[in-house]
Amino acid sequence: MVLLIDACVRGEHSRTRELAKCYLSDKEYMRVAVAEEDLKPLDKSRLEKRQKLIEKGDFSDDMFKYAKQFAQADEIVISAPYWDLSFPAYLKIYIENICVVGLTFDYLSDGTSKTRCKAKKLTYITTAGGVIPERNFGFDYVKAVAETFFEISEFEYIKAEKFDICGGR
Ligand SMILES: Cc1cc2nc3c(=O)[nH]c(=O)nc-3n(C[C@H](O)[C@H](O)[C@H](O)COP(=O)(O)O)c2cc1C
Repeated sequence: MVLLIDACVRGEHSRTRELAKCYLSDKEYMRVAVAEEDLKPLDKSRLEKRQKLIEKGDFSDDMFKYAKQFAQADEIVISAPYWDLSFPAYLKIYIENICVVGLTFDYLSDGTSKTRCKAKKLTYITTAGGVIPERNFGFDYVKAVAETFFEISEFEYIKAEKFDICGGR
């Protein structure tokens, strides 16, 4: 199963979403539209609740459904517009929700981690109003998390730029 993590906040008006649709045109996939889901950042009470459940090994709460879905995916595709040198905050909230010890990875006694996820490939698709410099902090961050916690080893980075340039000096 290919999992499309869609962080295209502008919904049906999104260029990035269109680009991702083209990329996936010959594939079957499941989509999770992170700006339309009931995803919440980890505030004090959610963090405490989550920590207790992780310690008990009880992952039956709905708050773990995104991590379970992510762990089962064979391939990951992320579509996220280029916002303020990275991506919309909804994607970060999603990442907070899928980095769950005991579900998507484990910590080992030497401080390193071991994945519990199936996916080996992640594709990151973005569009920008201007030019994306050599380093896209958004993609770099996603890649680091995916390598470190999920042991994803193959990455594809697709970008389309200069959509909002009209005239200028
Ligand atoms: C909140 C916000 C922040 C943005 N930040 C940048 C930026 O830092 N650099 C850039 O080149 N374009 C920036 N843009 C323009 C978008 O990257 C561009 O319009 C993109 O194609 C939007 O993708 P979408 O159609 O999928 O929403 C920003 C747009 C918004 C709404």
